[in-house]
Amino acid sequence: KKLSILGVPMDLGQNRRGVDMGPSAIRYAGVLERLEKLELAIEDLGNIEIAQQKGEQKELVDNLRNLNEVMEGNEKLAQRVDEIIEQGSFPLVLGGDHSIAIGTLAGVSKHYENLGVIWYDAHGDLNNNETSPSGNIHGMPLAVSLGIGHERLVNIHGYQPKIKPENIVIIGARSLDAGERELIKEKGIKVYTMHEVDRMGMSAVMQETIDYLKERTDGLHLSLDLDGLDPDTAPGVGTPVMGGLSYRESHLAMEMLHESGLITSAEFVEVNPILDEKNRTASVAVGLMGSLFGEKLK
Ligand code: ARG
Ligand code: MN
Ligand code: MN
Ligand code: MN
Repeated sequence: KKLSILGVPMDLGQNRRGVDMGPSAIRYAGVLERLEKLELAIEDLGNIEIAQQKGEQKELVDNLRNLNEVMEGNEKLAQRVDEIIEQGSFPLVLGGDHSIAIGTLAGVSKHYENLGVIWYDAHGDLNNNETSPSGNIHGMPLAVSLGIGHERLVNIHGYQPKIKPENIVIIGARSLDAGERELIKEKGIKVYTMHEVDRMGMSAVMQETIDYLKERTDGLHLSLDLDGLDPDTAPGVGTPVMGGLSYRESHLAMEMLHESGLITSAEFVEVNPILDEKNRTASVAVGLMGSLFGEKLK
């Protein structure tokens, strides 16, 4: 199996500096060495070029921060991911803030009729420029991919929508804005909040998720926001929320996804080494990638 690593040093989808160094932090934590031990043909394609954040914050236009630059970066990303899949390789995208899921999903979903998405996150990222409390595009990528939001964002890579609401499962949610809750109800999106994880256990949550997605999807993307984990485990994130998923729950989730054989693309986002403790969060991310790609069985 071929695996292509692509870094996206994006920090323009939110307003804390440092998350653009996520790809470097993850490489420094040994992602290549770790995955090379598995039977995979790995290539590191380096980073795509993203506009630099300037000293002062720009004014929001239509309640969207850095729309032009986020668009530009995501168009490039969509093209690169599209090519990786065309070449028969598995795209592993390293963020960067979560706004990059807009580009990743745009590149991936062209290749599937019914792409499934597992959104492993404290947040729903289901805002649009009318519901967003922050104007930060990293709080919008799941909505954008559903075709909801600013018309420039939803049309990235020349088509929309990228995904269908019934093909999404959100895991780990514990911070949802009012507009996001409404959208979840309206569209019937499947969500396992921390409440369900606590009641059912991660094993049952993942088994239900896999059974649910297996019969309706022809490809499955994992979008893993490190803030889905508890901030005690993954402190290097810009929007931490207490009461998150544990290290062990998260490894179990990755192992079960590996065993399912369903995952066809993945991204790990929101690693911010400036807010971190000795690069722990990047190390946690690399460990999770190890489990996702089958370390347990080696
Ligand atoms: N819901 C909040 C917002 O829209 C926070 C989003 C955090 N998203 C993330 N990918 N970390 O601004
Ligand atoms: Mn193509
Ligand atoms: Mn999040
Ligand atoms: Mn997120």
